[in-house]
Amino acid sequence: MINNKKIGVYDSGVGGLTVYEKLKKLMPNENYIYYGDLKNQPYGEKTKDQLIQYAEDIFKFFIEKDVKCIVMACNTTSAIAYEALKDKYDIKVYPIVQSCANVLSLLEIERLGVFATPVTINSHIYKNEIYKYNKEMQVFELACPEWVKIVESNMINASSTIDCVKKYLDTMKQNNPDKIVLGCTHYPYLRRVLVNIWGDDVFIDPSIIFSNYIKYDLEKHNMLNLSENEGTEEFFVSANPNEFKIAAKMFYELKNTPTLVEFAGV
Ligand code: DGL
Repeated sequence: MINNKKIGVYDSGVGGLTVYEKLKKLMPNENYIYYGDLKNQPYGEKTKDQLIQYAEDIFKFFIEKDVKCIVMACNTTSAIAYEALKDKYDIKVYPIVQSCANVLSLLEIERLGVFATPVTINSHIYKNEIYKYNKEMQVFELACPEWVKIVESNMINASSTIDCVKKYLDTMKQNNPDKIVLGCTHYPYLRRVLVNIWGDDVFIDPSIIFSNYIKYDLEKHNMLNLSENEGTEEFFVSANPNEFKIAAKMFYELKNTPTLVEFAGV
């Protein structure tokens, strides 16, 4: 039965947990595998060839584990690796940016800011995907290169973090955006700092749209797990399992330390 198979979710680190915890709440009876590629982060500074290689290694790992679908809970890999891999394996793949663009394009706003990694911003994936559905919305993209490291090294409460976040908010403010998308799954970890500076109703976390879309699509394809029991979960990382467990805490309290699984990489 395909319905009982696992859902594979991956990111370069703890960022994808912002998606995972919502999937788990929405569909607690599903079985999950999460992979955090800590050895190769930050993805947001890697080349296209590297990102495709990392994604392929993780796809093969998930396929060996017999997953029913793969959730790219990482904007950077969705922007760069999804097109190259979407038809290569006989498996359903959910990329975060492309899955959320339609809903974002329907928001009644004129000026949309996007904070994301350098690779995501340089790909202009948000601008291009939204433009497919809405040619009127103006999209202002800004890379925040330090933010992933702040989150992964658990430095969210450091005073230097507030200055760093403020620097990018000030730059974005010049575009006078109505809303700002947190276009990297690590950035919701900084929400408290962001909101303290610029109010609560400005920031959009696409993981909410994304997890709802995945549930809707699995249901549409009769792929939902119909069991009434709580599902299983397994966590794997390519490096630093203890650091992962500590940094994860804000979004997801892991019961056990994740298992180390490394691929040859590039
Ligand atoms: N969390 C990932 C994203 O959504 C990438 C973070 C990184 O640069 O490793 O883009």
